[in-house]
Amino acid sequence: MATAALALALLVLALPASLAVTSTYVRPPPRATLSSLLEDDAGADGQTPQQVHISLVGPDKVRVSWITAADAPATVDYGTDPGQYPFSATGNTTAYSYVLYQSGSIHDAVIGPLQPSTNYYYRCSGSSSRELSFRTPPAALPFRFVVVGDLGQTGWTESTLKHVAAADYDALLLPGDLSYADLVQPRWDSYGRLVEPLASARPWMVTQGNHEVERLPLLEPRPFKAYNARWRMPYDYAAADSVAAAPPSDDNLFYSFDVAGGAVHVLMLGSYADYAAGSAQLRWLRADLAALRRRGTPPAFVLALVHVPWYSSNEAHQGEGDAMRDAMEALLYHGARVDAVFAGHVHAYERFHRVYAGKEDPCGPVYVTIGDGGNREGLANKFIDPQPSISAFREASFGHGRLEVVNATHALWTWHRNDDNQPVVADQVWINSLAANPTCNRSIKMM
Ligand SMILES: *[C@@H]1O[C@H](CO)[C@@H](O)[C@H](O)[C@H]1NC(C)=O
Ligand SMILES: *[C@@H]1O[C@H](CO)[C@@H](O)[C@H](O)[C@H]1NC(C)=O
Ligand SMILES: *[C@@H]1O[C@H](CO)[C@@H](O)[C@H](O)[C@H]1NC(C)=O
Ligand SMILES: [Fe+2]
Repeated sequence: MATAALALALLVLALPASLAVTSTYVRPPPRATLSSLLEDDAGADGQTPQQVHISLVGPDKVRVSWITAADAPATVDYGTDPGQYPFSATGNTTAYSYVLYQSGSIHDAVIGPLQPSTNYYYRCSGSSSRELSFRTPPAALPFRFVVVGDLGQTGWTESTLKHVAAADYDALLLPGDLSYADLVQPRWDSYGRLVEPLASARPWMVTQGNHEVERLPLLEPRPFKAYNARWRMPYDYAAADSVAAAPPSDDNLFYSFDVAGGAVHVLMLGSYADYAAGSAQLRWLRADLAALRRRGTPPAFVLALVHVPWYSSNEAHQGEGDAMRDAMEALLYHGARVDAVFAGHVHAYERFHRVYAGKEDPCGPVYVTIGDGGNREGLANKFIDPQPSISAFREASFGHGRLEVVNATHALWTWHRNDDNQPVVADQVWINSLAANPTCNRSIKMM
């Protein structure tokens, strides 16, 4: 209690004067990691599926990922009516050890083809006691994303997840820093249980943050051991159309995917994968963007996610994204006309105007930092004064964002702040597609 009061006092003192004057909302202190989540629900025989989450694999398939304490079949039975499973798929099982920790059996199976905008009911490892359901995304616009970064597993996370659950959305995007397990592997399990109600019902598409690295010199030299085993993304998905298909990346740390029948292309970039000249990530990105331009119908919107922001006027982590920005910014600008870039890492919200090479530019992406999901480290309260002219809105509060791609030319971005326990729309802006902008779309060229 005393610690919380002290934290609050420090927090209030740390508030930049300009913010304190312009906003009456008193930013809350960090909330503790939820301890009740450490309970296991494995079942007597260890076969009860837990930590279920789904992700998109191509236009009409979904990967189901789950964990059982003991070995169990990697089967998913599914159908469009509750309690009836006319379809079945068998996938693969893996596991990992981390120092003295041994994971449960980590299963995944790809199911489909599935109908768009349809509710499916499913069970994992043949467990009738745990029927789950999800809704497939629509095959055309409109398409609704939720974007939440640096989520963690605290009381604030719970509040954010509650607000997300109240939204009617099609897929969730997470730009890194998921569990804040920070080497303590059972926290990956408690995180999996915390997000399951949402992540088993809508696709969660994630990319990595620094908290996913978990490298331990000598003991655990291989980075991303837990993350790669538990949050497998469709990096190896190869589309059938060999002319316009985006190439598989061969690395879970960066990949791309389409939604809404190809109307939106999403680049999931890796802030902690090599992005230097000649790196596999840069080669893949070039090939991905080249494939975009070979398409008969280009996507209406192109989005990118990174963990470390390329533009930020927060004092926290200042300059950390510069090297990656130098490696990729021109490619995204000239090669794809990326409409918006979402980042995490800085535990605050900030939205920029369209920016390229440090200046406002009508053909550059809108940059958004949305690292305010609810992690245990608290908020990044110190912004650089004065606010740079390229920064449109900034505030250190917990919350989540929503991007509703309404049609081929318009997308509405809103930021929902957790005011105590109520979600409040505190920032909103219309983003117009650059592909439909004749000034910007003329100069698309290969780098
Ligand atoms: C299981 O793993 C193998 C080897 O990686 C792969 O070829 C196969 O497609 C996987 N099966 C499923 C259903 O995911
Ligand atoms: C797209 O949506 C915007 C915002 O609702 C609307 O103003 C515009 O007319 C729509 N365009 C088309 C072609 O329907
Ligand atoms: C560029 O914009 C113009 C005007 O909106 C549109 O007619 C054209 O199809 C666009 N080109 C591409 C490649 O999107
Ligand atoms: Fe981070």
